[in-house]
Amino acid sequence: MFKQLLCALFGLGLAFGVVAADTLADMHAEMNGCESCHQDGTPSSDYAYENEQCVSCHGAESELPGEQHAAHADILVCSDCHKPHEMEVGQKPTCDACHDDGRQP
Ligand code: HEC
Ligand code: HEC
Ligand code: HEC
Ligand code: HEC
Repeated sequence: MFKQLLCALFGLGLAFGVVAADTLADMHAEMNGCESCHQDGTPSSDYAYENEQCVSCHGAESELPGEQHAAHADILVCSDCHKPHEMEVGQKPTCDACHDDGRQP
């Protein structure tokens, strides 16, 4: 009984180990802490401050490479597409949440 429980817990741990690849937020936090995006580490109400931090390190959409950036300058903020706590490092944002014509990045 106890052994079965241990096995179950171990299996669960492995499952989490596989699932828990770094999110974009974790990866950034490992470099510079939560403060790199959140003022004093506390999320703002409208996330404007957070999105200004993206721009201050990476540049504005008008300056970033790729049509998907230039096309949305002054229309979208970074976190409309790059959701830091939902997306993993290396995961590309998709277009179909807003465009229903099957377009790709
Ligand atoms: C790369 C920038 C970035 C980093 C680093 C980051 N966050 Fe965030 N966080 C955001 C953005 C942007 C949002 C807005 C939600 C969204 O668009 O996903 C957010 C949302 C949140 C929220 C949800 C707030 C709410 O009102 O529901 C919490 C809580 C949070 N972050 C905590 C943290 C903590 C704790 C850390 C450090 C471990 C951290 N964040 C690191 C960018 C970041
Ligand atoms: C319309 C959605 C969208 C918005 C808004 C957007 N991006 Fe992107 N971004 C993408 C897509 C899609 C890619 C992947 C392009 C590819 O690899 O084909 C990408 C790639 C990137 C990369 C390169 C990632 C890598 O794999 O090397 C960076 C850095 C980046 N974006 C930063 C930003 C920043 C900073 C902002 C805000 C100023 C922003 N993006 C706004 C969709 C978006
Ligand atoms: C303190 C500076 C800093 C801030 C603030 C910051 N970044 Fe980054 N970001 C980096 C660095 C450094 C890297 C790793 C090197 C690189 O790929 O350019 C990186 C990597 C990335 C990547 C590529 C990850 C991958 O998949 O390889 C994306 C996308 C990205 N950042 C988006 C954002 C977004 C969106 C925000 C705001 C919510 C943000 N960054 C805020 C410095 C920053
Ligand atoms: C969060 C919503 C959102 C996402 C996600 C998004 N877009 Fe857009 N996009 C818009 C809005 C809003 C406009 C401006 C109104 C319009 O023209 O539809 C726009 C306009 C455009 C335009 C210029 C007008 C047009 O329709 O050709 C291009 C090109 C474009 N987007 C490409 C992309 C690509 C590529 C992706 C995926 C990486 C993407 N978009 C993801 C909201 C979004």
